[in-house]
Amino acid sequence: MYRLTFSGDEDLLDVVLPLLPAGVHTDGDELVAFSGAPFPPAVLEATGGAVDEVPADWRQRQVGSGVVISGVVSIRSPFEQKSSAPIEVVVERRGSAFGSGSHPTTQMCVALLLELEPSGGVADLGCGVGTLAIVAAKLGWAPVVGVDRVPVAIEVARENAARNAVNIDLAVSDLAIDDPPLAEVLLVNAPPPVHARVAAAVDERVRHVIVSGIVADEVEDVVKAYAGFKVAKALGTEDEWIALRLSC
Ligand SMILES: C[S@@+](CC[C@H](N)C(=O)[O-])C[C@H]1O[C@@H](n2cnc3c(N)ncnc32)[C@H](O)[C@@H]1O
Repeated sequence: MYRLTFSGDEDLLDVVLPLLPAGVHTDGDELVAFSGAPFPPAVLEATGGAVDEVPADWRQRQVGSGVVISGVVSIRSPFEQKSSAPIEVVVERRGSAFGSGSHPTTQMCVALLLELEPSGGVADLGCGVGTLAIVAAKLGWAPVVGVDRVPVAIEVARENAARNAVNIDLAVSDLAIDDPPLAEVLLVNAPPPVHARVAAAVDERVRHVIVSGIVADEVEDVVKAYAGFKVAKALGTEDEWIALRLSC
């Protein structure tokens, strides 16, 4: 794993973020990006940054101020430093509940959501501690709902929604059994069996599905399941996580 440390402003981020699908962290006054493969020469040239080799496990290389996605949304824990990003999301994670914002699948979902003009509702299916739902609500989507089968995740998601002063309808639900709530945009950062259930339930209310939680080998089957939707945008990481925006 490679780490690139550099300095820059919003204009530089506009140039390099499309080339850095895993996003950019702030670390004090510096910006930090990670990649499983050597950074593209265009990124090195634009940033003039320093490259180090670092452990592949993200837990061993957490930085102290969360992550900034597309220069717009900062996701951090209550214990990390505030960033200057215009939208700040503060999330706590507890026990096995997923979703500190550190995972590239979450970051890619945010990057894809940022490309849509907020108009209508969002359902975060497999919401973990509510990170994506909170981002959606802060961007202006409404109403926002989130479900997860893990009760502690929903408990923490409710606390996180309150911490971020957003109104989200959160509920424990096992999508292997229960029907998913539907909305104009579905955020589904979840394993393929969840996609299969959601895809079977989608109706004319749904205009976009942001799909992640899958690897390259799973893309074809997952896309096929969302019949009537086309891949509008695809992102991927070097370690094979994929995120797609499907639109109809
Ligand atoms: C990769 S995590 C994503 C969490 C969050 N959306 C994010 O991006 O930070 C996948 C989530 O899907 C949930 N999940 C997996 N299978 C599920 C099911 N059958 N019903 C509901 N939630 C499920 C997990 O508990 C987990 O919180």
